[in-house]
Amino acid sequence: MDSETDVVRIFDTTLRDGEQSPGISLNLREKVEIAEQLARLGVDVIEAGFPIASTGELEAVQAIARIVTGPVITGLARVEPGDIDRAAEAVGRAGRARIHTFIATSDVHMQSKLRMSPSEVLEAARSGVRRARSHVSDVEFSCEDATRSDADFLVEVFRTAAQAGATTLNLPDTVGYCMPQEYAELLRYVMSEVDAEVIWSVHTHDDLGLAVANALAGVEVGARQVEVAVNGIGERAGNCSLEEVIMAIRTRSARQRVATNANTKEIARTSRLVSMLTGYAVPPNKAIVGANAFAHEAGIHQHGVMVERTTYEIMDPVDVGLDGSRIVLGKHSGRHAFGNALAELGFNLGPEEVAKAFARFKELADRKIRITDVDLEAIVSEEIGSEADEYELLSIQAAGGTHLAPTATVRLRRANEIIDESAIGDGMIDAACGAVQRATGIEARLESFNVSSVTSGIDALGDVTLVLATVGSEDEPVRRATGRGVSTDVVEAAARGYLSAVNRLFALRAREEAGRLSEGVG
Ligand code: KIV
Ligand code: ZN
Repeated sequence: MDSETDVVRIFDTTLRDGEQSPGISLNLREKVEIAEQLARLGVDVIEAGFPIASTGELEAVQAIARIVTGPVITGLARVEPGDIDRAAEAVGRAGRARIHTFIATSDVHMQSKLRMSPSEVLEAARSGVRRARSHVSDVEFSCEDATRSDADFLVEVFRTAAQAGATTLNLPDTVGYCMPQEYAELLRYVMSEVDAEVIWSVHTHDDLGLAVANALAGVEVGARQVEVAVNGIGERAGNCSLEEVIMAIRTRSARQRVATNANTKEIARTSRLVSMLTGYAVPPNKAIVGANAFAHEAGIHQHGVMVERTTYEIMDPVDVGLDGSRIVLGKHSGRHAFGNALAELGFNLGPEEVAKAFARFKELADRKIRITDVDLEAIVSEEIGSEADEYELLSIQAAGGTHLAPTATVRLRRANEIIDESAIGDGMIDAACGAVQRATGIEARLESFNVSSVTSGIDALGDVTLVLATVGSEDEPVRRATGRGVSTDVVEAAARGYLSAVNRLFALRAREEAGRLSEGVG
């Protein structure tokens, strides 16, 4: 990096804004695993959650603050005293702690949601930032719905926040409404009018498919922090995609004269982990991390790439960690080799998780000759946090054929109880899901179902992602959960995926019953 190249900080909000995607409900263990991977990727800031939302959220942020080293760990808080004190309690143990506080500044939000006048909002921003500064020296302040706010009011609020001690000022395009040039002009205006010694940050949503374009437009006029989520996940159309921003900055650094601190070779693995744990599949044509992002179909392109890669490739797949899977274990590998492979991949599992993952590895080794790092990641991510699960799949048998009604029988464990159930279905996958449904007693319908393969080859692990929605009633809202399962047998992968969604639905219900306070923020 030359002396004229500035660093753009990567602020990852996968675990806060990203986790607000419908159907995602990560447990504490899964959140810690994602945060550890984000640290390996080298993000600068991890927004670990919204601590006031629930006790579970508070505990997850606390765990990340205690365990994950390297990045700054932040928790989100409205400008209210209770929120801020709770965020301080959550990030207190972090090596580098930040409180991120916000209030909405657009007319529609102030009048309809907050029912506050502009001067009340200004005062609340001032006292919120002051209170946050009484806990930590690193405070970020955001004007929610900034891009639909009056520009001069924004200047006033940001100036007040800076005077009260905010060290980062963030301009969210909360509803994904802005055009890139418009966003850049607004940011340039507030930066020059506020004229404070702070880091300016961009936070953009993808409702018009412009989140990355808007964020990069902000960087061009001086933003030095970009707020992103892995695979672009998030409420509605999602957040600005981490991988796209990092690779756009890297690939076009000569034009932008900026760089990030990210180790781009960890991008593919981070994307896979988040996809596995959230159950959100990555579309094949997704930039940077989609299965086809580096595939060349047209003959002319294939020929060109064979002669000289750069004819049709602007990035090297090696740079994003897509240089193929490595064989790490074989049929005869034992517990020791398995443990070493996990340690090399940076997984830090508890004894129960290791035991379950080892059993899955042994099953896989009976069916697949060479086990790669990507296979291991897939089975380990399925087992992470599994001790929190209500039901565990012990076995599945399915049968079908031209003249046979497809049937499936599952054996599940719930605490010390063993449950056997069978079902007939339209196909073996349908029968397997039906058997899990009967065994768990859940009333739900399958909203989407997707099968792909983890690696290539006839013995590749099949990877099922699905969305399950409860039926709902007058007393119970409709709940949605994603599920994911991997196995060399797609019927088993489907049963695993279905069961993981069922477990998430039970966890969601338990959490709601424990009193979820979240109002949901952009
Ligand atoms: O989109 C948004 O406005 C947010 C803020 C809370 C930063 O996520
Ligand atoms: Zn947001």
